[in-house]
Amino acid sequence: MKRYIIHGGRPLHGTVTISGAKNAAVAILPATLLVEGVCRIENVPDISDVRLLLDILSSMGASIRRLSPNTLEIDCTHARDSEASDDLVRRIRASYYFIGAQLGRFGHARVALPGGCNFGPRPIDQHIKGFEAIGAMVDTSNGYVCATAPNDGLIGSRVNLDMVSVGATMNIMIGATLAIGTTVIENAAKEPHIVDLANFLNAMGAKISGAGTDVIKIRGVRALHGGFYSIIPDQIEAGTYMAAVAAAGGDVLIQNVIPKHMDCISAKLREMGARVIEYDDSIRVQRTNRLRRANVKTLPYPGFPTDMQPQIAVCMALANGVSVITESIYDTRFRYCQELNHMGASIKVDTKVAVINGVEKLMGCTLHACDLRAGAAMVIAGLAAEGETIIEQIEYIERGYENIIGKLTDLGACIKRVETPDNQSVPSAG
Ligand code: EPU
Repeated sequence: MKRYIIHGGRPLHGTVTISGAKNAAVAILPATLLVEGVCRIENVPDISDVRLLLDILSSMGASIRRLSPNTLEIDCTHARDSEASDDLVRRIRASYYFIGAQLGRFGHARVALPGGCNFGPRPIDQHIKGFEAIGAMVDTSNGYVCATAPNDGLIGSRVNLDMVSVGATMNIMIGATLAIGTTVIENAAKEPHIVDLANFLNAMGAKISGAGTDVIKIRGVRALHGGFYSIIPDQIEAGTYMAAVAAAGGDVLIQNVIPKHMDCISAKLREMGARVIEYDDSIRVQRTNRLRRANVKTLPYPGFPTDMQPQIAVCMALANGVSVITESIYDTRFRYCQELNHMGASIKVDTKVAVINGVEKLMGCTLHACDLRAGAAMVIAGLAAEGETIIEQIEYIERGYENIIGKLTDLGACIKRVETPDNQSVPSAG
């Protein structure tokens, strides 16, 4: 049993450095399958989702060298079109990028339907719509996605997505990179990691334009070559530390961020009374007085990210007044609210709306991280709460946050990771 134990009530002070973006890395790693040559990639976050994808790539014959904790060399020149292990694939949502990557590289793909955090149904019909538009035959029976390109290869086409989907936009981009002719994705997602994937592919010889707007054009090329790329900083990890300072109080400089990516989060925290100062590649967050209430609705980029919804909810749980969160991306992303209520928060959830009546303090207790960002929110709540908080199921948190214990400890938090046999009592963090 792995747990975090937090003794809360200490403001955070100091400097924290943000790692590379998880949701960029989890698309870029499968996309290396398209490249015949060595990709040297810097700023790769050392998180369990990335390690899983590397295991999948290795099992397909990729040669991987770790030059430093965050720099990898990946060579897929001799990769085989062998099937990735179902067990590995089902553990991670982003394994769906292997459909686009295998289809592009080998002309066919067979990938188990992906797993990932459970926020209600997460279909991949828009990915399939895109692959079919560029000529693939796709079958999704028996828990697998099987896709086959025509004998002469995939053919560029126009794809109008029915909804803004990050995964579908990136997967179609990967699949269309080596297609014959031009693919146009309309109603594309605009998240920073979409631009990052396009920049990675272009650095390896692809011809992609328009990433970051809602129309992306991919002119197919015959092959990609090796090259160098550095992944952007993680918008959500940065936002999580910003929310942690806003909730627990203190004064922290958050380094290695792209402040423009943080606009929406910075604006919301300012509205709530935190001081947020932007520099070229860092952001300073200070909070001394009690936060004020606010409302937020999650939206695709550049709107407020759904992946920051649980973390901002903790700030609202401690703010003065009644705040309302409207979740517009997922059906069920409020399961963590009942855990916060165990700490003394006052949150009422009605399907996709949470009404949060701010309280003066939260009290530590034992919590279960029910998904990655919910787990991050529980860490923030534990930092802000009085007394001891124990967080279980931390595997979720470690899927997406590199060295969260070390980074928070450096900011003065009292947080420990403990591993005990299931029936043994938990030692104190203090
Ligand atoms: N959707 C469909 N059909 C599709 C694709 C999406 O109905 O074919 C729906 C989804 O069910 C959802 C909405 O459209 O309701 C948006 O889904 P999207 O495809 O944008 O999300 P995703 O690709 O599955 C990625 C991130 C998530 C993040 C969302 C939204 C990865 C691996 N995951 O998921 O990240 O919440 O975009 O920004 O990139 C996280 O990091 O904690 C996380 C969950």
